[in-house]
Amino acid sequence: MQSDERELGVNLFSCTPPSVGASHREEETPQGDTGNGNPQGESHERVGYKSVIDLGRSAQVPFPHNVAEYPTKILPQVMGAFVERLTVPNELVLDPFCGGGTVAVECALQHRCSLNIDINPVALEVAKQKLQALQTASLFEQNTAVAHQHLVLADARQLPLKSETIDAIVTDIPYADMIRYSSLPSDLSTIEDYDTFLEELLHAFEEMKRVLKKGRYIAIFVADYRIGRSRVILPLHADVIQLMQGLNFDLFDLYVWRYYRSGGFRPFGARPYQAMNVHSYVLVFHKPSDAKPLLKNRPVRYRRRLIEKLSKVNE
Ligand SMILES: C[S@@+](CC[C@H](N)C(=O)[O-])C[C@H]1O[C@@H](n2cnc3c(N)ncnc32)[C@H](O)[C@@H]1O
Repeated sequence: MQSDERELGVNLFSCTPPSVGASHREEETPQGDTGNGNPQGESHERVGYKSVIDLGRSAQVPFPHNVAEYPTKILPQVMGAFVERLTVPNELVLDPFCGGGTVAVECALQHRCSLNIDINPVALEVAKQKLQALQTASLFEQNTAVAHQHLVLADARQLPLKSETIDAIVTDIPYADMIRYSSLPSDLSTIEDYDTFLEELLHAFEEMKRVLKKGRYIAIFVADYRIGRSRVILPLHADVIQLMQGLNFDLFDLYVWRYYRSGGFRPFGARPYQAMNVHSYVLVFHKPSDAKPLLKNRPVRYRRRLIEKLSKVNE
């Protein structure tokens, strides 16, 4: 056993990939069946593959996500869709900013293993309550899935993990000086200066890059926002793209998730009114393998009828 694993009490060997070596692309399931034993399968279907995700105003937070509250909890169907998309059962997912454990619960429901890191013990307690509720409800005949979700008090900028051990990262990052999750000095949400925040976020991204296996993916949930009296938008999603590309990640995919606030919708601030942001981004990055394949276009393939037509013209 490696020292990192001993430190965490985590048995990474229980998270061996399926022997078939199937990629998640090969795992595509027939319509109406997620094929992952997930009782929320229908919700995941609704997220779909369109670049704008909109589950509507009436999307519900299902059990056991609803047994405890944590600020800025993400609609689990959306996070769960990326867990499903980027991994196959038994693989190991990391959420380095786990908050109330949305990813941990989704991993349990979808038979993935997960490591969930947060600097705030309150967050880990909330996540634990949800996992325990799931265990108690015995949704599965053999509910070993819950046992494979690990909650770890640590700093995302110093992950207590070996390099290249993680199959996918799905995470929802904190924001500088918007919602303070705690008063802990290492909590990134307590940083007031936006540029300092980006510098510290970069350290977390460097760690994510180190622990992720080559050729695998990171899904980052991020919204732009405004702070201060200037009311200008801080384009955090664009800054995240820049930071990640600086680390040689490829921007593989970009989704806009339209979410719904409770309460009435009003324009933001005083005249001239500004839009109120009711969308967030899901940025999917790819960690390239050493040997990047040379991507050539395939030779053009003509349809049979076109070939027949062309040969008639040439006669
Ligand atoms: C946006 S919240 C995550 C919410 C989560 N997606 C959920 O559904 O509950 C961001 C989290 O990052 C955590 N955080 C802030 N600084 C951190 C650090 N340096 N290392 C690890 N976690 C940190 C905060 O405590 C907070 O729980």
